[in-house]
Amino acid sequence: MKLEEMDIDKAIGNFSEVLSDKQKKHGLLIHAFHHIQKEHNYLPEEEIKKLSKTLNVSLSDVYGTATFYKQFHFKPRGKNIVSVCTGTACHVRGAGEILDSFKNEFAISEGETTEDMSLTLETVGCVGCCGLAPVATLNEEVVGEVDEKKFTEISDKIRNAR
Ligand code: FES
Repeated sequence: MKLEEMDIDKAIGNFSEVLSDKQKKHGLLIHAFHHIQKEHNYLPEEEIKKLSKTLNVSLSDVYGTATFYKQFHFKPRGKNIVSVCTGTACHVRGAGEILDSFKNEFAISEGETTEDMSLTLETVGCVGCCGLAPVATLNEEVVGEVDEKKFTEISDKIRNAR
């Protein structure tokens, strides 16, 4: 669906009658951010400007809303996203070494993307499966009990997807 085709009442659904216009627009912004990020893997500036114009919401309000949520990104991200969990359980079970292994293997730091755009390396607080610590995610896939073998498997998947 294109931004121009978005219908606020349709997107908000059953709550449309009880929400103010401002609340509706806020909801639609979040909906649009997800849509844009799914398509581009981040929120490009030109799409943000287009959204601001389409919804008649100031650019600062659009950015203010987007930056409130950690899941929206403003720089291009890699084709693959690896998030190493650095929560307490994973930390005590070697998350630091796993993070270092990815940094060394792909020559990037946390928060960076490889030049060929094959990988963005991130960390996350806890992904909710502490019993499987140490944990990392590769895109939507959760990988538990990450050891040398699983690290190599993840790295190979990233390289093979180049
Ligand atoms: S601390 Fe890593 S999954 Fe909870």
